[in-house]
Parts: sequence; structure tokens; C-alpha cells
Amino acid sequence: MSGIESWRDKERIQMPVYTDTAALNAVEAQLRGLPPLVFADEARRLRSELAAVSRGEAFLLQGGDCAESFEQFGQSQVQDFFKVMLQMAMVLTYGAKVPVVKVGRIAGQFAKPRSAPTETVDGVELPSYRGDIINGFDFDEASRIPDPNRMIEAYTQAAATLNLLRGFARGGFADINKVHQWTLDFTAEDKAEAYRGIADALQDTLDFIKAAGLSPRKAEELATVDFYTSHEGLLLEYEEALTRVDPRSGELVAGSGHLIWIGDRTRQPDGAHVDFCSKVMNPIGLKCGPTTSAEDLKVLVDKLMNGKLDDAGRLMLITRFGAEKVDEHLPRLIETVQEMGAQVVWTCDPMHGNTIKSASGYKTRPFEDVLGEVQAFFRVHQDAGTVPGGVHFEMTGQDVTECTGGLRALTDEDLSDRYHTACDPRLNADQALELAFLVNQLMREGRGNVKAAARA
Ligand code: PEP
Ligand code: CO
Repeated sequence: MSGIESWRDKERIQMPVYTDTAALNAVEAQLRGLPPLVFADEARRLRSELAAVSRGEAFLLQGGDCAESFEQFGQSQVQDFFKVMLQMAMVLTYGAKVPVVKVGRIAGQFAKPRSAPTETVDGVELPSYRGDIINGFDFDEASRIPDPNRMIEAYTQAAATLNLLRGFARGGFADINKVHQWTLDFTAEDKAEAYRGIADALQDTLDFIKAAGLSPRKAEELATVDFYTSHEGLLLEYEEALTRVDPRSGELVAGSGHLIWIGDRTRQPDGAHVDFCSKVMNPIGLKCGPTTSAEDLKVLVDKLMNGKLDDAGRLMLITRFGAEKVDEHLPRLIETVQEMGAQVVWTCDPMHGNTIKSASGYKTRPFEDVLGEVQAFFRVHQDAGTVPGGVHFEMTGQDVTECTGGLRALTDEDLSDRYHTACDPRLNADQALELAFLVNQLMREGRGNVKAAARA
């Protein structure tokens, strides 16, 4: 098989076994008849923006839920998330002095790889929860059976989410320019002195631009943004059913989201997920962890770039080692890619290598470790003369208590207050914005100067 369905002949990992084949076939047929959520031209535009990121002429901000949930869904969730992403983007633009490419983990981030196939609670063993697109979160036998009809619900929610995002991106957030308003709460904290300075300078700049008199068209441009969607392309029946042929170029387009990535657990060079992603023209992300070998990386880069190693913007390497392991692993991966002469986007996921179990029993991530991995990422790229292209966060616009630390110094004991994630712990809105300020500082101090790195 050479078409989009060739993944079906490869080894598949982390995918559910659907027992009701008739129901599965019916769902796939229904999805094939529905409109795609994103289009070839949009994916192409993201690729060209990512090519700019690879050269240090733009910076990438990718973020959102670990797992989107059917239950915790509504306008306010999407709106609060979008707002904090724009706030972060503005702070990052100020530090990087280049445009920020905004990509959400949203409108399709429903399927989860799990470290164990089953979960045991009070002596009862059940299949693990694999994300709302596959089975239910509730710990009972019926919920945990994979149900193909959940794909239709995921598609519907993704379509509604994208509709909101497309609306907001057209300028519903004009107030985003009033930096003081949105940092008021946050900068009241004692330790926020440094952020206050940045916010003041940013506000001054915006006021100046306004006073200098923008043409109405320019002002409109400032209020509108490009916003892209992304998710892990894990559930390949869903991905295949939403794949379309671009009538103009004849290329295959994953219609489920602008960018799809391959997770750390499903990046086997001969596996189903790599095969699927190599066939579509969307930009592709590849998670790289401590177990990514140079040998595998070479094969993966070559396959995913279809041998076109100068095709900047096609492949993004999302590194996630853990703060303490960046120095051990990132230099060797950079060396491998440099030896190949491949043009990739390097981005840092400081979440998945820094997950711990707190004393209170919750899965959490210490803010200092998340920051530590970002700092190490910038330092290593600076030393190598490569471009630290962006950051990838699990975050929410809500005021949750899932990661410890930050300005408000959330403790282990605080975690139980508002721990709502369906999967991994997310940065709350304040923690996410604080990180943006800290990355801004890194870039302004030159330790993460994307343009200087690009020139080196
Ligand atoms: C994720 O991004 O939610 C995830 C599971 O990451 P990784 O594959 O890097 O562990
Ligand atoms: Co996660």
C-alpha cells in the first residue's frame, strides 16, 4: 500500500482495539464525508512561518491542554485560553523582537498515550483512560471500553472550538493592547518588580505606536492574529478519515489540525504513526526524549522530511528531557541534525520530562524545573550556534492548581484545591504568563537571542 492507509500494515502502538468493527467502519465513513477542519493553504502558511522560526526570524509559542475534555468545554474555557496565549505572545514578541507564531494544543488534542495499559484502584483493574476521543475518564468498566462514536463527538467539539478561535482571531480581543489591565492582578505580587518594568515598557511602546497614528488598516491588523491548531496524531483511524487531497496540488492534507505531532512513545521509525505523518503535507512535530538515539533520529528526520533536508518548516523537533538531562541529550541530537545538514525547528517542551508525584499524591510539575529546562534549552542552543525556535507548554486559561511554584508559590498542599486536568498537570494562567515574562528576560539578556543565534 502506498496511499494514506499504508500505516495499517505497520506496527501500531498505543491505539485502541475496537471490538465493534461495524460501528468503527460506520464512524470512519461518516468522518470521510464531513468537511475537514483545516485547509491546505493554512497548513502551507504555517509551514512558511515555521521556516522563518527555523532561521530565527520568528519565535514559536505552542500551548494548551494536555488532553481536551468533553465535559470541561465551553466558550469561557476557549476564550480564557486564547486570551492568555495572546498575552504571552505579546510579552514574547517584545523579548524576541520577532513575530511570534501562535499554535494551540487545541481543537483535536483528545487522544492520549499512556505509560500503562491498565490502572488499578482499590484492587480493581481496568483499562487505562486514553482520552475522551477513545474512552471515558470515569473508573468503571463500561466507560473504559473504546467507543468509536466518541470520534464524532471529538470532531464536533473541535469544529465548535475552531469556529470560536477563528472568530476571536479576527479581532474580538482589541483590549489585548492594554497591558496594564491584564497584569494588574498579577503584578501586585511583591516579587513581580521585574515584570512590572517589562509591562511598563511594553505599554509605553504600544501607546507610542497609537499616538504616532496608525492608519485604520494598520490598527485593524494589530487587532487580528493568525492562530493555528495542533494535536498529537495518535488515533490514526480519525486522522486518516479526515485526510483530504488538496485539489490544487494533489497533496494529502491532514484535515484534523494545522500541525500534528508524533509522541515520545509512538516514534518507532518503522511504526504506523511515522508512516502516516510522512504522507501528509502539514508541518509535523516529533517529540524527542532521553531515549531518542542518534541512529533513530537520522532515519526519522529523513523519513519525515521525505529526503528533502532543506525543507525548513516541515519538521519541528520538540525536545523534552527533564531539566537535569538537557545537557546530556540536547547537544548530541543537535550534532546529529547538523551532521545531516537538515533544516529543522527546535522547540522546547519543558513539561513532560519534569513530571513528579507530589507528597500529596498528585501528579505535578515544579515551576522551577519547567523554567530550568527552558533555560538549559536556550543555553545549549546558544553554545551550539543553533536557533532556540520556541516553547511548548501544557497550560490553561483557568485558575487551576496543578503545577507547584510560581509567583503565588503554590505548594503540594494547594494542589487538591482546583486540580481539574484530565491528564497531565498544566500551568495556570498566571504561571503561563509568568513563564512568558521569564523567557522574555532570557531573550533580552541575550541568552536566548534568536537573531544572534541565527547569525552565528
Ligand atoms: C503530550 O504532549 O501530552 C505527551 C504525551 O508528550 P510526550 O509524547 O512527549 O510524552
Ligand atoms: Co501531556
